[in-house]
Amino acid sequence: MCGIVGYIGKKKASPILIDGLLKLEYRGYDSSGISTVENGYLSNMKDKGRVKNLYDLDGINDLNGTIGIAHTRWATHGKPCKENSHPHMDNEKCFSVVHNGIIENYQDLRDFLIGKGYKFLSETDTETIPNLIHYYYNKDENSNEGRFLRAVNSACKDVKGSYAIEVICKDYPNKMIIARKDSPLVVGVNQDEYYVASDIPAILSYTKNFYLLDDGDIVELQKNSISFYNMNLEKIQKDLKNIEWDATSSEKAGYPDYMLKEIYEQPRSIRETIGTRLKQGEKVNFSDINISKDYLKNIDKIYLVACGTAMHAGLSAQPLFEKLCKIPVTVDIASEFRYREPLIDDKTLCIFISQSGETADTIAALKLVKLNGAKTIAISNVINSSITREADFTIYTHAGPEIAVASTKAYTSQVTLLALLGIHFAEVLESSDASEINNIKNELLLLPEKIQDILKDVTQIKEFAKKVYTEHDIFFIGRGTDYTTAKEASLKLKEISYIHSDAYAAGELKHGPIALIENGVTVVGIVTDAKLACKTISNLQEVITRGAKTFIITNQDLEKGNYDKVIRIPNTHPMISPILSVIPLQLFAYYISKEKGLDVDKPRNLAKSVTVE
Ligand code: M6R
Repeated sequence: MCGIVGYIGKKKASPILIDGLLKLEYRGYDSSGISTVENGYLSNMKDKGRVKNLYDLDGINDLNGTIGIAHTRWATHGKPCKENSHPHMDNEKCFSVVHNGIIENYQDLRDFLIGKGYKFLSETDTETIPNLIHYYYNKDENSNEGRFLRAVNSACKDVKGSYAIEVICKDYPNKMIIARKDSPLVVGVNQDEYYVASDIPAILSYTKNFYLLDDGDIVELQKNSISFYNMNLEKIQKDLKNIEWDATSSEKAGYPDYMLKEIYEQPRSIRETIGTRLKQGEKVNFSDINISKDYLKNIDKIYLVACGTAMHAGLSAQPLFEKLCKIPVTVDIASEFRYREPLIDDKTLCIFISQSGETADTIAALKLVKLNGAKTIAISNVINSSITREADFTIYTHAGPEIAVASTKAYTSQVTLLALLGIHFAEVLESSDASEINNIKNELLLLPEKIQDILKDVTQIKEFAKKVYTEHDIFFIGRGTDYTTAKEASLKLKEISYIHSDAYAAGELKHGPIALIENGVTVVGIVTDAKLACKTISNLQEVITRGAKTFIITNQDLEKGNYDKVIRIPNTHPMISPILSVIPLQLFAYYISKEKGLDVDKPRNLAKSVTVE
């Protein structure tokens, strides 16, 4: 979704801004722009399309200002075009603004401003902000240093919805005001210079010291000072945090795409997720969250709530939680959960899963749950993301920055962390047989090596991808946890290859979907649970009889069957098998996308973090 970068210091701002925007490309966007202040004049250069198009704009190299703001836009209000791109300015070109989020009352604000004589040049909600700031600025009779800050603050007070904004003003060439509500914003600090961004990776190569803004914060930045205020313009204090992310871990490191790099990082990311939580012969350690035996004994249900791939991680973990903890678990799509009046009270535990920690529906669902008295746990990959500030407890996946829009390593880390959490609850509750628990724990520790094995030779996966990349429909089937892998694999394929695909519980085929099977259609079968294997094999024979080509991911001895390709993966406990079985299918989607010549990391219409509902 939209991305923000800002700079104030002694260096020329424009190269820093464009560099930051390039680092935010992974979020998904359709237009970009920058604005700087110089000699009492605000420049504003923007266009639809890629950030690199900015280099072609006449005069971009002549921007010498040392203060600037920049933006990548993912269209919500109004189509992608130059007029709707950010930065937006007020009618008198006194203020320039970039904005992430959605202004829910923009129509009322627009009507109000039109009534005051303002004109609008774009279809966006954002254009109300510079004009509203201008309106308050002109109304302020006290033309002292605080006038710019007061105008931004008054405008923010009028806005309903979410925002992260950067504002510069031609009358204050040494100042930038930024503010946030329900949309992330950080300030990176160096000697006599400040970097602003919606996402840390955009500015990680310049500094590791950050102020992480909270909702309602307004910040006044000058070249050598920073002041934080609340919505009443009272000064507040903030702690500087050191973020130990390695800048190179958000770069491609020799891989052609981030997605491939992230797939290959999985042995390491799983190791990081397990960290010190699991050691041979010891109980799983979650001493960082205070969940007692009394509390767990008293709850009567658990909700796992998330969107997209993170929701699939919830689905993969559901059987483990239910079997080991003996507590009913429901997995919900956040955008459905929040509107269906779910039954929640103080006997409900709700776990929210989000790689980015910024997904609007997941955060809204969490807020709703808190109002109803349930305890909340956030599982996130991004330190200090919005969701982690709302939840009662947070546990981090520690998978490292995930840049490709299609989630891979975050998913396997989420499933791993959820398995560890389920085991922890079972150990606290003493609700399950120790030998089964120990078996899963041992298998968890072996995952990195087993993933390494899968990644050693991917030629067969690549070959099959070459064979089917021109197809229009591909189906995925499985039973039990293999069905959840089928769902995740199908999502991955459609996201980056644009091939229509669906996942079915293998036992459901005969209840309708088998009507779609005809000569030459590809069916991917996942068979990793010995107890269910013969059932899925029968279903695969039914589709083969009807002419389907089959691509099988299995840890069973199926080599002798009449399948088109069998990918053998290492054995593990069925409850954590999605962590292994998904990997060949991530690669399958990847190679199909490459064969089609598509942009794997930035698939059309998609954004890395979905910060609007
Ligand atoms: O950041 P989140 O985990 O909350 O994101 C949820 C989904 O938007 C995300 O998993 C999406 O489905 C990915 N593009 C999947 O690859």
